[in-house]
Amino acid sequence: METRLRMLLSVLILESWVLSASEGHFYTHKLHRPEYAEETDERMQRNKRETNALMHSDAPDDSGPLQPAGDPSDLPTCLLCVCLSGSVYCEEVDPVMTAVPALPKETNYLYARYNKINKIAAKDFGDIVTLKRIDFTGNIISEIEDGAFEKLTMLEELSLAENQLVKLPMLPAKLIAFNANHNKLKTKGLKATAFKKLSKLISLQLAHNQLEAVPLIPETVRTLHLQNNNISTVTTDTFCKTNDTYYIRPNMNEIRMDGNPINLGQYPNSFICLKSLPIGRYQ
Ligand SMILES: *[C@@H]1O[C@H](CO)[C@@H](O)[C@H](O)[C@H]1NC(C)=O
Ligand SMILES: *[C@@H]1O[C@H](CO)[C@@H](O)[C@H](O)[C@H]1NC(C)=O
Repeated sequence: METRLRMLLSVLILESWVLSASEGHFYTHKLHRPEYAEETDERMQRNKRETNALMHSDAPDDSGPLQPAGDPSDLPTCLLCVCLSGSVYCEEVDPVMTAVPALPKETNYLYARYNKINKIAAKDFGDIVTLKRIDFTGNIISEIEDGAFEKLTMLEELSLAENQLVKLPMLPAKLIAFNANHNKLKTKGLKATAFKKLSKLISLQLAHNQLEAVPLIPETVRTLHLQNNNISTVTTDTFCKTNDTYYIRPNMNEIRMDGNPINLGQYPNSFICLKSLPIGRYQ
């Protein structure tokens, strides 16, 4: 009788654990959708405060002092940042974060916005091949070693916006969205086929840089932002195909080229295959 009762109890406990685990899972999924971004930020700030409170509390605790001793890079990432089932939030970390933190195994999402990271090394992501989204917006990255992102075969979204990049490394083949707005990118810092081989790319953001030409754009791309660069010419082959007058470029429905020293009105044949004209100056 007693054994049966114990079995029943453990089944009940297991069930509630499974239920709460799956709810947690659902919630984090919700968090990752853009319309919940504000909620995420709020929650993150709250979590960060809680973590900070934990780190700096004077309450006696037999697990030893959590107060960092010396170099902040010695701190385990999940004390410095907030780790929430597969996501690591390291935003505006205090003390100042200057390098990519060591990530827990199986991390899917890394948000490391508004820190002072200045370089991404080839070994930084090590064997964390589970990464799907990385956001380094608002750091001071000026160097990325080639190969840093190469092994991240599941990476779909990468933001390097608001950094100091002059050139780009190899990008992983499954990227869907890439953002390098507000850097110092030059055309000679992009490999000729930097984007052409990204066969799933939908959104490409390269605004507010110093590009002098439009890079090769894969046909999958729907949104292309090139405003505020130094582009002064385009050719028929930039978006269309010289030798195929029947060609219509599929997908592309938004090209921004405003804020470039180009008069798009001088290149009517360059846009003939597009469903909508690029945004920019026409006279
Ligand atoms: C823009 O391009 C022109 C050449 O087309 C070059 O002379 C000029 O220095 C460039 N400006 C910047 C800010 O890179
Ligand atoms: C277009 O066709 C001409 C003549 O066949 C050829 O010389 C030229 O290289 C082709 N251009 C492109 C961009 O394929």
